[in-house]
Amino acid sequence: MRTMKSVCIYRYGGPEVLVYEDAPRPHPDAGEVLVRVHAAGINPVDWKIREGHLKEMLHHTFPLVLGWDVSGVVEALGTGITRLKVGDEVFSRPDIARDGAYAEFIVIKESELALKPKSTDHIHAAALPLAGLTAWQTLFDAGGLSAGQRVLIHAAAGGVGHIAVQLAKWKGAHVIGTAAERNHAFLRQLGVDQVIDYDTERFEEVVQPVDVILDTMGGETQERSWKVLKPGGILISIASPPKAETAAAHGVRQAFVFTQPNSIQLAEIAKLADAEKIKVIVETVLPLSDATRGQELSQRGHGRGKIVLRVV
Ligand SMILES: NC(=O)c1ccc[n+]([C@@H]2O[C@H](COP(=O)([O-])OP(=O)(O)OC[C@H]3O[C@@H](n4cnc5c(N)ncnc54)[C@H](OP(=O)(O)O)[C@@H]3O)[C@@H](O)[C@H]2O)c1
Repeated sequence: MRTMKSVCIYRYGGPEVLVYEDAPRPHPDAGEVLVRVHAAGINPVDWKIREGHLKEMLHHTFPLVLGWDVSGVVEALGTGITRLKVGDEVFSRPDIARDGAYAEFIVIKESELALKPKSTDHIHAAALPLAGLTAWQTLFDAGGLSAGQRVLIHAAAGGVGHIAVQLAKWKGAHVIGTAAERNHAFLRQLGVDQVIDYDTERFEEVVQPVDVILDTMGGETQERSWKVLKPGGILISIASPPKAETAAAHGVRQAFVFTQPNSIQLAEIAKLADAEKIKVIVETVLPLSDATRGQELSQRGHGRGKIVLRVV
């Protein structure tokens, strides 16, 4: 049996349940591709799954390899693959219900893979799919954001936020972003038109009405957000489902988005990266064997841009 290095869990729990070990190398079935992982992005969903927060929804079995952001090279093809060939450089936000990418190899459905941006290395390409698809599916699919509209992005310096800012600017929107003071210059460099310090300002007192809100925080941030929307505007959360009754009471709309794999949108995101319309910022790179430290950093919740595991 051929093996590979991987980081997996055998039960839900804290960072101590992560195990770096040799595991069997997976095989691609029909419609699937074996990818040699070069880099794997770390996202909050990784430690949320590790802690068991999504167990009612996802029904994982153990051992479970974590990590659903990947860049790598096609190693082998299952039957029926038409779009990709061995040696292609690809990136993906693969199906979160299956084994992830904290490993030397991963099997991914062809429909979840796109060619990675030519201009980025694997480290940066691995940081892009989950945040990019989340920003795309919230701002454009759910929010219908268009040129000239005003959008408020909470946690604009985070993994999702900093890509959402750039996609919104590309679309021609007026962008307002919240962040701690240390990230203000960063947000201005990204093109944010109005930077709000969430420690010292109450955004609902200083932001003029907006068409779209991207809520990455939930809780109190979401509750205080309703009054910032124009009539008919939309609050889209990726943190906790907004209440339809609350939206109706404010005369606005709401949506909850759980990001889905999408190779067509990924290809669009790759084009934008190659055209230098979006740039992913990687704050920390760690070896695969340091996944525990990567998750601990992510869990602190104050990163700028992304954390990535180097596999090759
Ligand atoms: N539903 C979905 O499909 C989906 C998809 C992706 C992500 N998510 C969720 O969305 C959330 C954000 O994800 P992420 O990858 O962007 O996380 P991240 O990279 O860890 O970013 C978190 C950001 O939050 C900022 N922050 C902390 N407290 C804040 C506050 N009170 N107000 C405004 N900003 C604050 C931090 O910036 P400062 O340093 O400036 O504090 C940090 O940049 C996570 O809960 C994640 O699980 C959901």
